[in-house]
Amino acid sequence: MKKVSAWRRSIGDTMSGSRQRLRLMRPILTWTIVLVSFASIFLFGVYIHPPRSSIACSVFSSGGCAVPEQHPSQELSDDQIAARVVLKEILKIPPIQSKNPKIAFMFLASGSLPLEEIWDNFFRGHEGRFSVYVHSSNEQPVHVSPYFKGRDIRREKVVWGEISMVDAEKRLLANALLDPDNQQFVLLSESCIPLHGFQYVYHYLIYTNVSFIDSILDPGPAGVGRYSERMFPEVKIDDFRKASQWFSLKRQHAVMVISDSFYYRKFSLYCRRNMDGQHCFSDEHYFATLFHMTDPAGISNWSVTHVDWSEKNRHPKTYMAPDVTHELLKNIASLDESIKFTSEEKNRAMVTPCLWNGKKRPCFLFARKFHPETLDKLMYIFSNHMTSSTP
Ligand SMILES: *[C@@H]1O[C@H](CO)[C@@H](O)[C@H](O)[C@H]1NC(C)=O
Ligand SMILES: *[C@@H]1O[C@H](CO)[C@@H](O)[C@H](O)[C@H]1NC(C)=O
Repeated sequence: MKKVSAWRRSIGDTMSGSRQRLRLMRPILTWTIVLVSFASIFLFGVYIHPPRSSIACSVFSSGGCAVPEQHPSQELSDDQIAARVVLKEILKIPPIQSKNPKIAFMFLASGSLPLEEIWDNFFRGHEGRFSVYVHSSNEQPVHVSPYFKGRDIRREKVVWGEISMVDAEKRLLANALLDPDNQQFVLLSESCIPLHGFQYVYHYLIYTNVSFIDSILDPGPAGVGRYSERMFPEVKIDDFRKASQWFSLKRQHAVMVISDSFYYRKFSLYCRRNMDGQHCFSDEHYFATLFHMTDPAGISNWSVTHVDWSEKNRHPKTYMAPDVTHELLKNIASLDESIKFTSEEKNRAMVTPCLWNGKKRPCFLFARKFHPETLDKLMYIFSNHMTSSTP
């Protein structure tokens, strides 16, 4: 109170002793005192009961916060705060309850689809429960199946391992998101085949609440070794993940991908060929890292598309006609653990048990890479063995 009256006196002085004006000031002064008192009570309360949020913590409290955040948001850039907020808000939006949920099958191809007949066979009889999108990067495709005709989206050139690959995937997602009934967004290539009947695949993808993407912490040169310090602090080395590009995203995650320009920019600038002497491929790191940072519990940690890396070459095995048997497809379709190898000197196997809604189930719905010459054999196997049960 002493301070306030001194202050009042000094105000009085600067008013050159005008009592008239001082009288006019009185209500204002009274209110100021009331407000100052309230503020003190509030600050005292905050001191006793420290707030949870980190911003409030660092503004108000003297280190009494229960969980101090490693990077208080004062240090983040405007763009980073905005990105965090937008991505978090999207995650809070409840899924659209569509009366007619569909699966978007997004084919990222270079030209025509040599195995289109297999897919035609797979889709037949299930009209209205799927939609097809084709991005053929290098040449206008010729379609044989009515399910693919007229389904080409605007295409741009794609260079393997460059950001244009991610751009094409985002373009497919954006086009497929235009249809509000699409709930899962499966990315496939021209060498992919389905391993189960449509009914099984539909049930597996629609009745779940996760995205299927693997997210590997690979300490080797083809994993963490591709990380560039230039991504710091927005992307930390501990968050850097690797995945095969063949994902299936739930709608929420698809929206997150097309909304994100902040982390995308980091990858387009610093995850590329010849970056500080490393070759980084955005399509193998951007999606996995993004979801690891924003929604780790929302992804399965395995991909529903099987690829055979057992030959440990730079490229996965391509199945030729003599390899293709009913046994082969049955074996792949029944695997219930996903095995990935790290790129360390002694390739370590990372085994993920495939838990579908908490129950162990076969991991794979699709497989690649199948050479065009396998078409006839595959058609034969499909028409004789493909069952259409549910998982
Ligand atoms: C996937 O792995 C992350 C750890 O990286 C974990 O937090 C998450 O729960 C896992 N997802 C599922 C569905 O188990
Ligand atoms: C998905 O649903 C299961 C129950 O079916 C629940 O335990 C889990 O937390 C959900 N996961 C997400 C990411 O919402």
